[in-house]
Amino acid sequence: MRKAPLVAALAGVFCLALAAPAFANGITGTVRDIDTKAAIPGAVVSNGRTSAKTNSSGAYTLNAAAGKYTLTITKSGYLKTSQVCAVTAAAATKVDWALTRSYPSHAVPAHDVTVLAWNDLGMHCDQDSYKYFSVLPPYNTLHVQLFGGGEDASRGYSVSYAFAKKTDSTLHTDFWKYASSFGWNLPKNVGLAGEGLSGTMKRDAKGIGFVAEGIPVTPYDDDGTWDPYGQATLTVRNGGGSVVATTNVVVPVSTEMDCSNCHGANAPVDILTKHDAANDTTLLADANAGHPHSCSECHSDNALGAAGKPGVESLSYAMHKRHDGKVANTTEGCYNCHPGPKTQCLRGIMARAGKGCVDCHGTVNKLWTSVAAGRQPWLNEPKCADCHDAKHAENSNTLYRNSVLNNSLEGDMNGRIYCEACHNGTHAEYTTANSADAVVTKTYQGDNYWIYNCAVCHKSGDGETAFRGQAMHR
Ligand code: HEC
Ligand code: HEC
Ligand code: HEC
Ligand code: HEC
Ligand code: HEC
Ligand code: HEC
Ligand code: HEC
Repeated sequence: MRKAPLVAALAGVFCLALAAPAFANGITGTVRDIDTKAAIPGAVVSNGRTSAKTNSSGAYTLNAAAGKYTLTITKSGYLKTSQVCAVTAAAATKVDWALTRSYPSHAVPAHDVTVLAWNDLGMHCDQDSYKYFSVLPPYNTLHVQLFGGGEDASRGYSVSYAFAKKTDSTLHTDFWKYASSFGWNLPKNVGLAGEGLSGTMKRDAKGIGFVAEGIPVTPYDDDGTWDPYGQATLTVRNGGGSVVATTNVVVPVSTEMDCSNCHGANAPVDILTKHDAANDTTLLADANAGHPHSCSECHSDNALGAAGKPGVESLSYAMHKRHDGKVANTTEGCYNCHPGPKTQCLRGIMARAGKGCVDCHGTVNKLWTSVAAGRQPWLNEPKCADCHDAKHAENSNTLYRNSVLNNSLEGDMNGRIYCEACHNGTHAEYTTANSADAVVTKTYQGDNYWIYNCAVCHKSGDGETAFRGQAMHR
């Protein structure tokens, strides 16, 4: 919060500079190396009809009439990539680029079964204490897909998960003490969907992988270490019960929902006092009597599938509306409530390319006014194709996390592989800034790129070698 006015002021200056371009419209920008941030001269940006080359400081100007464009960029030594943009008649459109170096050439180590594993969202939130209320319970969801010899190796196989350092969540959260007050009657260390801190994964809804839904894991290790990027161990067994593969995967969860930045050291009490005063509720008295409420009891919450009470605003709408104007519209501003300055949940390749929360989600104001205009919180979210070309889009009317590759170079692969299996969860997309995310890609590819190497899933002799070197999306 302290830094917010300065950040907002700087953003204002930046926008002014953009609004007064040297010419009326067209596309301008700078091209940099995503790792070194060095300017890249000689890169060619094309809109399909005309193209422009970057100068010695990495800058380019592409003449373009008003309209929508799909831009591609090429430069030897770097991967070809795309961005979509809209040019208006009034002003220049700024499109900056952060290029990733061409794929390295590591040999994929010999392995029988390929285990691709990921967390659905890139980050989950839970609370240290539920004594006063529950915004979100401990709830984490892991996915696994198995491949071997190019085939879906999952038939007859089973996958189990466990945490070496996190075996008892009751050591670090009082969630189970109050769960029944929120309407959840759960044994200790069991989550809302019935999963515990270890167990056997179930087949997923599409029948192409495995899932463990709602694992009640916290950011604390048993010894009290706070680590929002703890690892689960996955063990794959064949039909006979023999172990055929093991791997680790990050299970991100954070308690860094810092309402105390503004509501003070005793934030829960302050929050409920204000809520009761404004809305004629008795949330504080009820909590003090040992009966805390879940916000979703009254405010609908699609994250929990909770309908709330008729006529009461959804939780996302109520929270963003009430706090509109109280935080800067920057990633740091959102980090007041979303985790957070320490956790840095936004760490995927887009963050590395300089994108912040507001670039994809819009301002706090847009978050709730869009709901008023019909957006469903948690279900209608930004899309990869908002920025990339149509070849790299989600399945229609489907969230990224539920989408599968449908335009692969070979028909047999379509419908078989989740986007997240190759690109990882949202906000943590490969190549991520956090090495804890990259265990799977490191294991097979020896790098932290998204899954690009055919040999991760195919063995030589599968008959796919003739297709190698082609793009994964067609
Ligand atoms: C706000 C715009 C935006 C959105 C939305 C977005 N991206 Fe990106 N993406 C970028 C930018 C910018 C880069 C850096 C490369 C560049 O400058 O175009 C990038 C790079 C990438 C790359 C590396 C491409 C390469 O060859 O260098 C991948 C992979 C990627 N994004 C995947 C995704 C996925 C998956 C999603 C959806 C979950 C997504 N992106 C959503 C803007 C976006
Ligand atoms: C950037 C500062 C800031 C942060 C961070 C913040 N709040 Fe607030 N909140 C406020 C202010 C200011 C008010 C209004 C106080 C007033 O008008 O008396 C408020 C009011 C509220 C209210 C009262 C709603 C009503 O009906 O008037 C609730 C509930 C609330 N906040 C919940 C939260 C929760 C939960 C968090 C953490 C997830 C949080 N706040 C984080 C600044 C903040
Ligand atoms: C017993 C029902 C109930 C519970 C539980 C409840 N609220 Fe509310 N809340 C309301 C009602 C009713 C309003 C009035 C406005 C509306 O329709 O949303 C309200 C208003 C708010 C507002 C102000 C919205 C605005 O537009 O100014 C915020 C913020 C809020 N609640 C946050 C929370 C949070 C956070 C929790 C959990 C800690 C919570 N509420 C729990 C009933 C409840
Ligand atoms: C590059 C674009 C991009 C940026 C930057 C980004 N998000 Fe997202 N966000 C998405 C996409 C895409 C989804 C929807 C994922 C899906 O469809 O499964 C999403 C979903 C969410 C959700 C819903 C839960 C989930 O993960 O699906 C929350 C909450 C969220 N974002 C908060 C944030 C916050 C806070 C920031 C900044 C710290 C941020 N996002 C930055 C693209 C982005
Ligand atoms: C004052 C606290 C607060 C601030 C500031 C805040 N959020 Fe949220 N946000 C919440 C809460 C609480 C939820 C609802 C959690 C739930 O539904 O269980 C939420 C939910 C979301 C969701 C998922 C629901 C939806 O509407 O799709 C997104 C996306 C999101 N926030 C993005 C952002 C972004 C981006 C910013 C900064 C521009 C931001 N938030 C700032 C508290 C905040
Ligand atoms: C994430 C795992 C994965 C990756 C990476 C992958 N494939 Fe596949 N591929 C599959 C699956 C699953 C099938 C379907 C096999 C079946 O139907 O039994 C398949 C099938 C194929 C087929 C059809 C023939 C066959 O072997 O069944 C070809 C050809 C193929 N892939 C080529 C490629 C090429 C070329 C690449 C690299 C650009 C690649 N694949 C990368 C999983 C993968
Ligand atoms: C088998 C692995 C794999 C799967 C599954 C996969 N991708 Fe990709 N993706 C890649 C590779 C490799 C690239 C690099 C460009 C290429 O080869 O087409 C890429 C590139 C991208 C990019 C960056 C495009 C750019 O402009 O540079 C986006 C966005 C993207 N994928 C989104 C998705 C979405 C959305 C899905 C699911 C519908 C998905 N991917 C499924 C491997 C995969």
